[in-house]
Parts: sequence; C-alpha cells; structure tokens
Amino acid sequence: MAYETLIVDISDHIALIRLNRPEALNALNSTLLGELAQALTEADRNDKVRCIVLTGSEKAFAAGADIKEMADKGFVEMFQEDFFAPETEALLRVRKPIIAAVSGYALGGGCELAMMCDFIIASDTAKFGQPEINLGVVAGIGGTQRLTRFVGKSKAMDMHLTGRFMDAEEAERSGLVSRVVPAKKLMEETMAAAARIAEKSQITVKVVKEAVNRSYETTLREGLLFERRVFHMLFSTEDQKEGMSAFQEKRTAQFRDR
Ligand code: HXC
Repeated sequence: MAYETLIVDISDHIALIRLNRPEALNALNSTLLGELAQALTEADRNDKVRCIVLTGSEKAFAAGADIKEMADKGFVEMFQEDFFAPETEALLRVRKPIIAAVSGYALGGGCELAMMCDFIIASDTAKFGQPEINLGVVAGIGGTQRLTRFVGKSKAMDMHLTGRFMDAEEAERSGLVSRVVPAKKLMEETMAAAARIAEKSQITVKVVKEAVNRSYETTLREGLLFERRVFHMLFSTEDQKEGMSAFQEKRTAQFRDR
C-alpha cells in the first residue's frame, strides 16, 4: 500500500512506519493521521507483523498538529468532525505493541502521539513539549491527561503552562521515555527491542499490553484482579508449557502463539 505521508516497511515481523512530511516537520494533518490509522490497523491485522515501530525523521518525530490546517476552523466544525478522535481511537485499538522511536521535536500532538504508543525510545536529540498554550489552545489528543500520568502534576503543569521543551535526559529522568540512546543508534536499538518482542509468544505479548494499560483505566484493586486472572488464564496455553519446559531444559523457548 502506497501512502502520501508515510513510508511503511514490513520485514522480519516488524512493521516500521515512518511519518514522512519533511516540509512540515511531520506536522499531523488529517491525511497523515488518516493514513496512520489505516497503516496501524493493517499492521495489526497482518499475521506477519509481531511488533510495530513508529518513527519520524532525525529532525522531528512530529512538530504537532498541522497549525495551517487547523487555523481557520471554528468550534462547530471541530466538534462535528470530532477532530482527530476517530484516528486516535484507531491507534488505541491496536493490540500489537507499538514502540515510538523519537528523534528531534515531539511537540503538541507529536508528543501526544508518542505517548499513545506503548513505550518511547528517545535519541539524545529528542525534545518533548506541549506548546499549545502559545497558540491560544490546549492539548487535544491526550496531553493534559497522559503527560500528567507519565511525569506527575508539577512537571505536566510546568510543560503545559509555560510551553517549554523537555530534553531527552529530563524526559528519561521523569519517566516519559523508557531509554535514551545516541541519535545514530536510535533505529538500531529500537529495532532490536522490537525484534526481542517479536520472539515472544504473541498471546502473552497482547496480554501484557492489556494488563499494563489496565493500570491507567481502573482502580488498583480491579487492575490486580485483572492481572491475576490473565496470569491464571495463560496456564491454558501451549506457550506457557513451552516457556517453562524450556527454562528447565536450559534451552530457548520456541513459542507458537497458542
Ligand atoms: C504546520 C509546521 C508545524 C506545525 C512546523 N511547521 N511545525 N506546519 N504545523 N505544527 C512547518 C513550518 O511552518 C515550516 O514550514 C517548516 O515546518 C519548518 O519549520 P520551522 O519553524 O522553519 O523550523 P525551525 O525554525 O527549526 O523550528 C522548529 C519548531 C517550530 C520549533 C518545531 O517549527 C515550531 O515551533 N513548530 C510548531 C510547534 C507547535 O506549536 N506544535 C503544537 C501544534 S498544536 P514553512 O513552509 O512555513 O517554512 C497541536 C495540538 C494537538 O499539536 C491537538 C490535536 C487535536
């Protein structure tokens, strides 16, 4: 499938999706987000794909929603089209893991898009920010909610109210990203992480994603119950038998996703 604003490459069980609007620092317009929703949905359905990597360019993961596209809209139009809700809902329905590989700017909707992925690996050049306040608006696809859960209220308020950028070191220190790597190694390290995930039982992988995401959606008590039940449930799979036999036989498990 050819896209106008994305480059998609599927190999070795990994779907690599690259945002590709270099002239606008990968600003998220409706074409790009529509194509992204489609590419992610297709990768999720494709049996050959076991992990998804989302990235941008060296200079920008994405510099936010496309300001030029939004500028002249009014409330009724934004409300009626439920601006960017269908596209972001599609991303949240993906059951396979999505790793964001972030280099350069991840601002506004770009930061929010990275936070919607399952985890973020950042290059040492990454800059995160929610500068919507400078445009007279507020984050619109999760920034006030997700950034607060990642980095806590004080830092989230600081970011949203001042519009300042956070560098990679601060982002790692405050829990926004899982690791920081040298810019030159970003794709190598991210693809290696994706390859490790691709080796696991895909049943367990999906259960892990559901269980960790539950911690955001429910109370601790309900989340613990969910975790305990899926833990019990996995004892009905062949992959659990294989994983535990392989450990005892001191060999690498060969998972068959059942
Ligand atoms: C449209 C954008 C853009 C954006 C950059 N460009 N960001 N176009 N929307 N968000 C375009 C510029 O207009 C310019 O094109 C080209 O990309 C290169 O950008 P420059 O500004 O010349 O580059 P530089 O000087 O290096 O500055 C980089 C930057 C700056 C710091 C990232 O571009 C910037 O501040 N961008 C806006 C960041 C932002 O405010 N993001 C939040 C958007 S609101 P031309 O053709 O003009 O030269 C948002 C809300 C989300 O995200 C909620 C959704 C529901």
